[in-house]
Amino acid sequence: MTEPLVRLAGVSKLYPGRGRGAQAVAAVDDVTLDIDAGAVQAIIGYSGAGKSTLVRLINALEPATAGSITVAGKEIVGLSERELRTVRRDIGMIFQQFNLFESRTVWGNLAYPLSIAGVGKAEQQKRISELLHFVGLPDKAHAHPRHLSGGQKQRVGIARALATNPRLLLADEATSALDPETTGEVLALLRRVNREFGTTIIVITHEMDVVRELADHVAVMERGRVVESQPVFELFSNPQQPVTRRFVHTVVDDEPDAEALTALRERTSGVLVTVVLRDPSVRQSDIFSALTRRGIIFELVYGGIEEIRGDTFGNLTLSLDGATGDIDDALAEIRTLVPVKELT
Ligand SMILES: Nc1ncnc2c1ncn2[C@@H]1O[C@H](COP(=O)(O)OP(=O)(O)OP(=O)(O)O)[C@@H](O)[C@H]1O
Ligand SMILES: [Mg+2]
Repeated sequence: MTEPLVRLAGVSKLYPGRGRGAQAVAAVDDVTLDIDAGAVQAIIGYSGAGKSTLVRLINALEPATAGSITVAGKEIVGLSERELRTVRRDIGMIFQQFNLFESRTVWGNLAYPLSIAGVGKAEQQKRISELLHFVGLPDKAHAHPRHLSGGQKQRVGIARALATNPRLLLADEATSALDPETTGEVLALLRRVNREFGTTIIVITHEMDVVRELADHVAVMERGRVVESQPVFELFSNPQQPVTRRFVHTVVDDEPDAEALTALRERTSGVLVTVVLRDPSVRQSDIFSALTRRGIIFELVYGGIEEIRGDTFGNLTLSLDGATGDIDDALAEIRTLVPVKELT
């Protein structure tokens, strides 16, 4: 097994509390997390959970108070500023507000990290042209950032972050300032970065759509701690913690709440059940045939099937009309395959 590219072990960051005798704030609290080389790791959490602080610790913009952080096998806690500069060369970063130099052209923005890395002029020329083609902005080399759209600015941000071929790319709310369509384009670009260059990406976000589009693995933060860490399919299909369930519910309708249930009751006369599909080997048609074989009429009234990375899951709330005995038999058969909840 290969070693993770980033390894966090018992990492904490305390900030002094404000005012005399105030308690220190644990912005990051005892975080242990491995991030595999080549993976896209999402870190999700509400405002103040400690996500940005964690990112600042990984690229060593701030020192951790406790714990160990290794990047590409190298311990970075306790390194000198000079040594850190070498580590940071392997880490690219993109931001919500893009952080481009407004006074420089796109070309100038991309030349900057290359100059710092000591890349010669001819080589810079070649690399910048490659980068602009990769992000789809070959005709914007001489534009100033103020003449670019948000999506174009973030493409430049991505090109700049990739200029020196970092192994790790950190994206802190990189799409939060963009509209949904532009967000989709930027996420697609980040996916290409990951696939084509094998760049490991850490995406910080509070948007589940971003997680769903991009992430392989997800860590959920709450009050400085990682409270849940799962592959993306498991996180969506079987969230464990209340905070994770709240996030999942922002994009997945699973069960009707009391209000939705009352509305359903008014609209349908059938028996209401929720069929819980989690096992990829059970198909919807297996469920439906148990009903149709017995002449039961059914209607999907709530929920549906979700797809993540080619695997499906979902909660199907069905209204069933038929003879009571037939419905009981059908539900008994379906229960041998998947969990079924009767909504009473
Ligand atoms: N420099 C600092 N000094 C003191 N407290 C800080 C500092 N930076 C962050 N904090 C505190 O640490 C906690 C975590 O902040 P952080 O910015 O990491 O959260 P976040 O998850 O990125 O939130 P958001 O989604 O709003 O960006 C917050 O309570 C914040 O007030
Ligand atoms: Mg933040």
